[in-house]
Amino acid sequence: MRLDKFISSQYPDISRKNSRELIRSGKVLINGRPCLDPEFKVLLDSDSVSLFGKNVDFKPFLYIMLNKPAGIVCATRDRLSETVLEIIPPELRRPGLFPAGRLDKDTVGFVLITDDGALAHSILSPKSHVRKKYFVRLRDPLPQNCAEIFADGISLDGERLLPAELEKVSEKDCFLTIREGKYHQIKRMFEAVGNEVVYLKRLEIAGVALDPELSEGKCRELTEAEINVIRSAKNHL
Ligand code: URA
Repeated sequence: MRLDKFISSQYPDISRKNSRELIRSGKVLINGRPCLDPEFKVLLDSDSVSLFGKNVDFKPFLYIMLNKPAGIVCATRDRLSETVLEIIPPELRRPGLFPAGRLDKDTVGFVLITDDGALAHSILSPKSHVRKKYFVRLRDPLPQNCAEIFADGISLDGERLLPAELEKVSEKDCFLTIREGKYHQIKRMFEAVGNEVVYLKRLEIAGVALDPELSEGKCRELTEAEINVIRSAKNHL
């Protein structure tokens, strides 16, 4: 990768132009020596690059776990509301990040934000059937046989859904695991059985659980182990 791109891709506040200026002014060292050529090809496996005397820990992609609060939209831009990208801290921002999957504005919980298009595709593609687990609070008690109805795969607007797993927590609370992401899916599933979702929180994506240490609005990078679990999600359907 070209040195100017290498630097600007890792720091949200360093543009490609700034990156070239920093390189030409000798602030960037490769393997301990100043490199003044912005076009220098960095070998990602073997070259060590430092900026202002600090090693640049190159990450080809970022994977961020956000505990989304209510009132924030899952979009890269929105004219009216704050977006998930606007609430992540500046040190985790960089061009190309987007939410891999949408939660409704009033839904809270786990949103994965990444710039890895291939990984996002692998969890978003309708064919991949990746599991997403939610906590659901209902207006009325869970209808009789709801678990069986959802396990059979109910129909919404004439379209049959994949089987969903419902686990009762209390009279009006349950966990629900679904394998697709249709528009307002969980709210519409409960509407179809005469109930209403009053609170919805996503707890897991592809076998990775929302970190209980993250309060609403907070985020952290995924660990290598968590990234690998998501990468292999298709293997444990
Ligand atoms: N199902 C819904 O109805 N809303 C969400 O935000 C996620 C799943």
